[in-house]
Amino acid sequence: MAAVGLTILSLGGCASPTEQSTGQIAREPFGHTKDGTPVELFTLRNAKGAEVRISNYGGLVISIKVPDRNGQMGDVVLGYDDLAGYLKDSPYFGAMVGRYGNRIAKGKFTLDGTEYTLAVNNGPNALHGGIKGFDKVVWEPSVMATPAGPVLELRYVSKDGEEGYPGNLSVTAVYSLTDDNGLKLEYTATTDKDTVVNLTQHSYFNLSGKGDILKDVVMIPADKYTPVDSTLIPTGELRPVEGTPFDFRQPTAIGARINQNDEQLKFGNGYDHNWVINKTPGEFGLMARVYDPDSGRVLEVLSAEPGLQFYTGNFLDGHLTGKGGWAYQFRDAFCMEPQHFPDSPNQPNFPSVVLKPGQVYKNTIEFRFSVQK
Ligand code: GLA
Repeated sequence: MAAVGLTILSLGGCASPTEQSTGQIAREPFGHTKDGTPVELFTLRNAKGAEVRISNYGGLVISIKVPDRNGQMGDVVLGYDDLAGYLKDSPYFGAMVGRYGNRIAKGKFTLDGTEYTLAVNNGPNALHGGIKGFDKVVWEPSVMATPAGPVLELRYVSKDGEEGYPGNLSVTAVYSLTDDNGLKLEYTATTDKDTVVNLTQHSYFNLSGKGDILKDVVMIPADKYTPVDSTLIPTGELRPVEGTPFDFRQPTAIGARINQNDEQLKFGNGYDHNWVINKTPGEFGLMARVYDPDSGRVLEVLSAEPGLQFYTGNFLDGHLTGKGGWAYQFRDAFCMEPQHFPDSPNQPNFPSVVLKPGQVYKNTIEFRFSVQK
């Protein structure tokens, strides 16, 4: 890379073989926000030539370039060529989502007897942290050497009352690219007052870099999902997927059942639901596997979160033109968002999202890429 002001940190790793990275991180300017704050772009590269670009604006994942079955590198996420695109209009392309990813019913919740009111920015509900969520703030970046290779660390302190949430929340997001083509995101957060936290990553994947995603074959190891009302708020039920279009326990093409006459699919205009992953809560493991028959690329999503929001780009309608002039059409991408269940602050039966002073919130998400012949 030949950008002006470029700094490169290159390190040999000495960690376990699967985690080890001998990669590099380069940094360069990426423009300014509307109030003039400079923003940077970080390029992570590993020994295999995979490349991920991340901005400290919104913690955005700008591009992910990984090989197809013929070794051809290609970008597998939607987004824009420059910062201006993200500042203008973005449906959370590549975003670091917080303080509360997904919906909170009517933008209200009660904690320790106090009712908190959030901005209502999605029909009658609050979505993805509010008007100016973690995807629209500038994070403090540092590139650091670790035994496992170089990492990009982003820090942000969300003030008590910001977007209506209680407590000063200090958040750290560490991004790294492993030598086995895994993009790893490690989130931690602490608070000085009881609050709710649900951080996730909102990359829009298209594993062949063109066309719709209906051919992609998805496996989600979940016996249950959380059905929703017409505003996409969970009803509280954990419903078996057995015999429904939500059963992805056996690998199934996204398009195989997406247009079935099913009330839940109608509410989401496709898949836009939370699956209850079959694993011990807190245990890091596989949440989804996607195989793209065109390119041969495989994406495995791993985390220790209890739920996975699988969204099939049902709000894309061609009005946003992204990288390389591609006008993103209906279902041109899918998102796989490991997270706590939507509306958990109002649903006592769902795993708790409350963070108290003295506790440390931790969430590791890995998007691991490979190929299938
Ligand atoms: C999430 C939601 C979707 C949609 C997208 C952003 O995935 O579940 O309903 O709001 O974010 O467009």
